[in-house]
Amino acid sequence: MIRLHVNVDHVATLRNARGTPYPDPTEAAKLCVGAGAHGITAHLREDRRHIRDEDVERLRRELPGVTFNLEMAATAEMVAIAKHVGPDVVTLVPERREERTTEGGLDVVAGGRALEAHVAELALRGIKVSLFIAPVEAQIQAAKEMGARQIELHTGEYAHASGAAVTRELDRLAAGARAASRLGLEVAAGHGLTRDNILPVAKIPELAEVNIGHALVADAVFMSLGGAVRAMGDLLALARAA
Ligand code: PXP
Repeated sequence: MIRLHVNVDHVATLRNARGTPYPDPTEAAKLCVGAGAHGITAHLREDRRHIRDEDVERLRRELPGVTFNLEMAATAEMVAIAKHVGPDVVTLVPERREERTTEGGLDVVAGGRALEAHVAELALRGIKVSLFIAPVEAQIQAAKEMGARQIELHTGEYAHASGAAVTRELDRLAAGARAASRLGLEVAAGHGLTRDNILPVAKIPELAEVNIGHALVADAVFMSLGGAVRAMGDLLALARAA
């Protein structure tokens, strides 16, 4: 079974567009769990463009027993917040203010001592650390050496590929998942995954988790949020049944 973690960032995007208290990402998260999601993911960006500090607090407090994956940049400010909030998982991601969304993987190789110290500090608190990286052998190896328990493979290149590049990107993801699994790392994947492109990714045998946000919130416009989560859950189950 593949764990489906729903990223609720874009529920907050919709809320913040009008400065209203609705739609509330925490209420959306509860609904997603009711529809079969195994966990909830939220990205507290440095500029707080969608998820805000109080959302993170409430997601932790109001969904006891539900895996909470906090995505964040590897900075001292964010590590302090994570230590205060106590998510089950922290996924460290690269962050640039001018980007529309997380556009590439974390450069673990270049991360050096500073990144290693953040990973160690979170791990010491009992938080599972996942690193969001491209499917590149050197990055996977560095993630292992840095003490991460999980990697999340960046599926953006696959999601945006067309023609022959789709198979090429899928092969890279599969090879990355194999390499990580051989090193004893858990393997997640995320970014740009949709009902149309999920099946080949979900067939990668080493894959244990997906983090999906934008496409589910978009599907919710047409089929309700619960319907969107259930439809994605059905596809994940179908991939593994085949
Ligand atoms: N996983 C990570 C690490 C991300 O940064 C994002 C985007 O915030 C996602 C998954 C979800 O991507 P999407 O919204 O495209 O499904």
